[in-house]
Amino acid sequence: MNTGQLNAVDLLIGVLTVAGWLGSGVAAAARRHRIALALLAAAVLASAARVASVVALSRAGWWFVAEKVVIGVPLLIAGTAVALVVAVPRLTAAVRGAESATGSAPATRAVAKASPAVVVPVLSAGYAAAAGLLVTVLHGHPATWGAGLVATALVGAATPVTWQVLARPVPSAVLRGGTAATVAVAMAGAAATAVSAVPTASPGTTHHHPAVEARSVSDLRGPATPEPGRAVRRYTLTARTATITLSSGRRVEAWTFDGQVPGPHLTAEVGDLVEVTLRNADIGVGATLHWHGYDVPAGEDGVPGLTQDAVRPGQEFVYRFRANQVGTYWYHTHSMSHRGVRMGLYGTLVVMAPRATGPGLDVSVPVHTFGGTVVFGNHDQFDERRVTPGVPVRLRLINTDSRPHRFTLAGTAYRIVAIDGGDLSGPTQVNRVGLHLSAGGRYDLAFAMPEAVVTLLADGDRGRGLRLWPARGTGAGPDAQMADTSGWPDLDPTRYGTAGSTPIDARNRFDRDFTLVLDRGLTLADGRPRFAFTVNGRAHPDIPTQYVREGDLVRLAIVNRSFAIHPWHLHGHHVLVLARDGRPPTGSPLWLDTFDVLPGETWQVAFRADNPGVWANHCHDLDHAEAGMMLHLAYDGIATSSGGHH
Ligand code: C2O
Ligand code: CU
Repeated sequence: MNTGQLNAVDLLIGVLTVAGWLGSGVAAAARRHRIALALLAAAVLASAARVASVVALSRAGWWFVAEKVVIGVPLLIAGTAVALVVAVPRLTAAVRGAESATGSAPATRAVAKASPAVVVPVLSAGYAAAAGLLVTVLHGHPATWGAGLVATALVGAATPVTWQVLARPVPSAVLRGGTAATVAVAMAGAAATAVSAVPTASPGTTHHHPAVEARSVSDLRGPATPEPGRAVRRYTLTARTATITLSSGRRVEAWTFDGQVPGPHLTAEVGDLVEVTLRNADIGVGATLHWHGYDVPAGEDGVPGLTQDAVRPGQEFVYRFRANQVGTYWYHTHSMSHRGVRMGLYGTLVVMAPRATGPGLDVSVPVHTFGGTVVFGNHDQFDERRVTPGVPVRLRLINTDSRPHRFTLAGTAYRIVAIDGGDLSGPTQVNRVGLHLSAGGRYDLAFAMPEAVVTLLADGDRGRGLRLWPARGTGAGPDAQMADTSGWPDLDPTRYGTAGSTPIDARNRFDRDFTLVLDRGLTLADGRPRFAFTVNGRAHPDIPTQYVREGDLVRLAIVNRSFAIHPWHLHGHHVLVLARDGRPPTGSPLWLDTFDVLPGETWQVAFRADNPGVWANHCHDLDHAEAGMMLHLAYDGIATSSGGHH
């Protein structure tokens, strides 16, 4: 069982524990003593199983169990102990009494009152189990005094209330004691919650010197000229609403660059200056251009409120940067990106080494979902092409969605020559494998065109994709290629290719060590509660900024406690994968800009802080980012475009 599954099992056992205790209490209240005793036995077993599952989960790391160990399990054990000591002897006696009185009139049983001394401890154990579970579901990591006290207060409040409902009058000692304890604990909990809601200095913020010689991100702009002898690649992109027509003739209301989806394909050669003027015609929420995976100067990064203001209808903004990384990239709006990108404000960017283009087919395949249909480029059916056998083919797969896609290429062996723009070392031939592309991720596939049909599919959907036909020769018909690819094993990129040397490895001394624990939790946004996507228990904009100095070697641990996939994306840097779930890659070094952290996984990545700025660091499931899963990485002495200091 992996950590994600264990986490789910633990939650399930937690729910069963609550159900067992509450069910037993209700049965006891209804004087179904035999049933109550059986359910109580089940609840005790479930409670023990819960403790065991927490212990098992703790092996994946403290992040997965902190609040369970500190709050949930103690509450559960205390509730169980009280129920065992107070209720069980009485319940057993009641069962025995009922046995010796068999044959007595059923009316006697119905009239007799349920004893609070039996029912209340059992129900309280249920409340304790539920309170601990609520802490996990609504609060998560890290465990705080506030959460612990609020959970305890809930149990403390519910217990005398239950007693009151069952037995009037309530023994005054129970009532007074319970009320006083509850009020005290609740007040302490509220105070602790208020205190913990105020951002406090974390270890990452200690060398932060605000206002001293602060430069603004908006001054960190790209150069105005290409490298000597290289060209200026000038583009103008106009963001506007449009009705686009997919290959099937289906029409879709979209937000577009230049009236087309995907937006124009931008290309450059290394050394060129890329100069793109963004105009916004009528996108009401504003638009920007973010160069996903391209480590541009911070002022060109296109994040509204951080590096620039959103470009409003009628306005424009000019982006300039040197093309200094070869590879496959994409661009997209970062203004209300969860809507803007979904609606179509994205396009492709490919940078080649000078004179690298030769004969053959080099095609970018941005994949996007429109109205539930996965579209390749603008093809919602098959994009059919004829290719001369023997010529080199390069397919640049780009996932522009917020969810992962699983690609399969049938009909040829091929190599994965690059991931996230970076060339892999020693890529070997693979065949009949699944390629898992995270949201925002790119894979470049290379092969020589065979004398057969080659078919690219996404998620096993055989109704659309990219199909290459040999320009001569018969080739196997497409039917032969339309095999079911769902059973093909997924390629593990951390075991692909050959190890190479890297400027960073796990033995380095790191100047900064950050941990991001990804989860869900109840937070406040503008005073309103929401079930946010959280990092270290908080949601944007309340997640403390992580500060670095230029030149720092930084290690990031990303821990996914939740039940969703989180494609993690740091702007402005490529990160080297040090370990995935504790396993260092054995294949090619992986320099990624977006990587899927699956439920229960922990990734360790590292980078050199060599690109000063204030950078977005977020989940690329853009709905998650919008719902809180976004923070900033700031270099000392640099302020955001809006003058903010984070
Ligand atoms: Cu492609 Cu901040 O994202
Ligand atoms: Cu996410």
